[in-house]
Amino acid sequence: MLTVSNLSVQFGKRVLFDEVNTKFVQGNCYGIIGANGAGKSTFLKILSGKMDPTSGHVHLELGKRMSVLTQDHYAFDNHPVLETVVMGNKELFKIKAEIDALYADYSDENMEKIGEFQVQFEEMDGWNAESNAAAMLSNLGIKEDLHYSSMSELDGKQKVRILLAQALFGNPDVLIMDEPTNDLDFETIAWLENFLANYDNTVIVVSHDRHFLDAVCTHISDIDFGKINHYSGNYTFWYESSQLAAKQRAQRNKKAEDKKKELEEFIRRFSANVAKSKQATSRKKMIEKLNVDEIKPSSRRYPAIIFKAEREAGDQILNVEGLSIATEEEVLFKDIDINLNRGDKVAFISKNSKAVSAFYQIITENKKANSGKFNWGVTTTQSYLPLDNSAYFQDGSLNLIDWLRQYAQTEEEREEVFLRGFLGKMIFSGEEALKKSNVLSGGEKVRCMLSRMMMKRANILLLDEPTNHLDLESIQALNNSLINFKGTILFTTHDHEFAQTVANRIIELTPNGIIDRYASFDEYLADPKVKELRERMYV
Ligand SMILES: Nc1ncnc2c1ncn2[C@@H]1O[C@H](COP(=O)(O)OP(=O)(O)OP(=O)(O)O)[C@@H](O)[C@H]1O
Ligand SMILES: [Mg+2]
Repeated sequence: MLTVSNLSVQFGKRVLFDEVNTKFVQGNCYGIIGANGAGKSTFLKILSGKMDPTSGHVHLELGKRMSVLTQDHYAFDNHPVLETVVMGNKELFKIKAEIDALYADYSDENMEKIGEFQVQFEEMDGWNAESNAAAMLSNLGIKEDLHYSSMSELDGKQKVRILLAQALFGNPDVLIMDEPTNDLDFETIAWLENFLANYDNTVIVVSHDRHFLDAVCTHISDIDFGKINHYSGNYTFWYESSQLAAKQRAQRNKKAEDKKKELEEFIRRFSANVAKSKQATSRKKMIEKLNVDEIKPSSRRYPAIIFKAEREAGDQILNVEGLSIATEEEVLFKDIDINLNRGDKVAFISKNSKAVSAFYQIITENKKANSGKFNWGVTTTQSYLPLDNSAYFQDGSLNLIDWLRQYAQTEEEREEVFLRGFLGKMIFSGEEALKKSNVLSGGEKVRCMLSRMMMKRANILLLDEPTNHLDLESIQALNNSLINFKGTILFTTHDHEFAQTVANRIIELTPNGIIDRYASFDEYLADPKVKELRERMYV
């Protein structure tokens, strides 16, 4: 139904796609996976016509409609909520706009045109558009009193739901989504999983979320080496079989190595033998061939993420007293007291993700609390990975070397050689270090932000959802580095494994104070007393 022919994409010397030929078949859900920077978002932009490939074509069957989940949460800020949803069906919205314009300029001639448009409008179930949109919004938890509000008045979590409704509106034949679960809470992710699992039309979705991929995909499309390969089954099935394939390849490789040794032995033994030298030479050629034939390793790489503190912090880390913050609609947290000790690795959690982000913003002085105070120990230094990093990448004139240089601490670190070495370890080698900071993929931006943090050599790390956008290799590298870090960590993550392996203390922020336990994440969740508190403290 959706066909890609001879597609190639190149940025400078970097080849993202090389003569890709592939098809997306009606009714399947394709999970697109691949390393950060492999070209997943670029591929989706090409499918949806937002970007032209270097060469090749994309063809959508005649009469089929495609829709894309917008990632820009501010794109519809000037529109009312309900209208934003209806705009998801572009054609319908266009006809409605034509009719409205013709009515505004009323004449007999226009009356005829209006009639024609109205027939089309009716065929597209236009009269029910608003009520259908309203039903959809209500399903997604957007209450009716918000349907006529302007998008700009809503918070991020609500916007995501509305943009989802927009993408799903009018039942598109192909639905395209790029990392849709990133800004969603568990509840909405579960809703989306359930929705997509029962959705009949074609879905093409990029995600690094294993649970989500397993729940929704009928096929996995792996982007590697400039090609796209479809495998039927969900993510776990793909992962298990690809591990098996890799093992088999490794075994075959071992055999090749054995063979190579055998051959070398053969050459050594017979090279002196003039009578057999001719044979030895031809075997030598075979050895060269064997080298060339070595298996191609996966192009996924692990960044070298290492956090080292310049100096150790003293005993005083962070003291928080009576801190409270509320938005116009809700109390995020109230009257919290926290005392952090050196070496604490605290997972901050809350049923309301805004509460946690607000907490980080307050203690890094990016936001003011309504009341209360906090004090960092004098020997502490902090580095912070915010949830939203867009402000750091607005200046598109900087290449990655210059971008990182902004955060250098010493003369040596300002040197190009140093910066290049640093970037190389974070998998931006050679030419890659010269690209502009505003073309980076989502995961690449996070890798840059982590580099910035590493250069700061702080003894306190604050990380708000660091695994968002990262590929599995980078998540693993980051996970290990936090386990090994000697300082104090305050972090928040949706990744269960990550929380369980890093945290030795859990602090839950609620509208009625905190729940605070020295425990692993699993112990915390299983604790019956905690369960009881959780039930009481959110009301
Ligand atoms: N205009 C451009 N010029 C140069 N390089 C570019 C340009 N646009 C994108 N790139 C590079 O192309 C690569 C692919 O980017 P893309 O956003 O498609 O990656 P992705 O697979 O979606 O990664 P992620 O998992 O991090 O979201 C990246 O390395 C990116 O830096
Ligand atoms: Mg991307």
